[in-house]
Amino acid sequence: MASSVEFHDRMLSLGLARVSEAAAMASAKLIGRGDEKAADQAAVNAMRDQLNLLDIKGVVVIGEGERDEAPMLYIGEEVGNGTGPDVDIALDPLEGTTLTAKDMPNALTVIAMAPRGTLLHAPDVYMDKLAIGPGYPTDVVSLEMSPAERVAALAKARGCENTDITVCVLERPRHEDMIAELRSTGAAIRLITDGDVAGVIHCAEAAITGIDMYMGQGGAPEGVLAASALKCMGGQMWGRLVFRNEDEKGRAAKAGIKDLNRIYSRDEMVTADVIFAATGVTDGSVVSGIKREPGYLTTETILMRSKTGSVRRMIYRNPVR
Ligand code: FBP
Repeated sequence: MASSVEFHDRMLSLGLARVSEAAAMASAKLIGRGDEKAADQAAVNAMRDQLNLLDIKGVVVIGEGERDEAPMLYIGEEVGNGTGPDVDIALDPLEGTTLTAKDMPNALTVIAMAPRGTLLHAPDVYMDKLAIGPGYPTDVVSLEMSPAERVAALAKARGCENTDITVCVLERPRHEDMIAELRSTGAAIRLITDGDVAGVIHCAEAAITGIDMYMGQGGAPEGVLAASALKCMGGQMWGRLVFRNEDEKGRAAKAGIKDLNRIYSRDEMVTADVIFAATGVTDGSVVSGIKREPGYLTTETILMRSKTGSVRRMIYRNPVR
């Protein structure tokens, strides 16, 4: 494993921002065009090209899929120009393909980098997720609690009523019971149609986003990306993989996961310092989406390092050639 001395994340972080910017700019022309696949492919191509310019010996651990199902940025693909530190890469070139195709809020391009062997190799299954922002006692809520117990515990810790708590949840039939239970507590629910990386990040900026807690099942790869972001911004997160059939259990075995019921804390999903970059594709509460004007594209990127807890928001106006 690379030591933190070898992992020059200060300079690498700027390179990482360029990677997520490039992916976002490439998908710009496909916002609102109803073509998820084309938007994703444009982001994948651009992210890969830019990633391969970085001075790293990178391996994709969270990517577009298994090698036989994703020709580019597949799990295990070596990326970077091979001259720098050994790193793990977690990426989602377009988090919110449907959001992009429909021009709905909170589509992002997302990438995280950490020393080799320090990011959870989460298989492409669901993960039961729970996240809150910074400033709460450790383990004030847990995946073992019922949704109603989580609301009560968080309200008590914040010194407020249940009705002052807002929970963000993906709107899916599988969450109907959870949503009904949350409603019975008096808590407000912000339903999102997609994009749970942004959903989790919202908890870290509760005063701006109005979201106190995220819960529910979404993609496990997105869970590791969200844990990377929260490790930089502060906040607690837990995840437990969800297996619906033997094929999914096989994916876990392939990823080296033995305990199928394990609950991973944020720092068990991301065990060393991490850098994280996300660029807005469509407008959202984390960052603004791409703005187009004749001859230019403007992006906003959030760039963060867990080592320092620094959170930068970078506006980039780029001439279109
Ligand atoms: P895509 O960008 O791959 O479409 O993923 C969007 C997303 O909403 C994720 O944010 C989330 O984790 C996952 O899909 C939820 O999966 P499902 O749509 O199967 O409920």
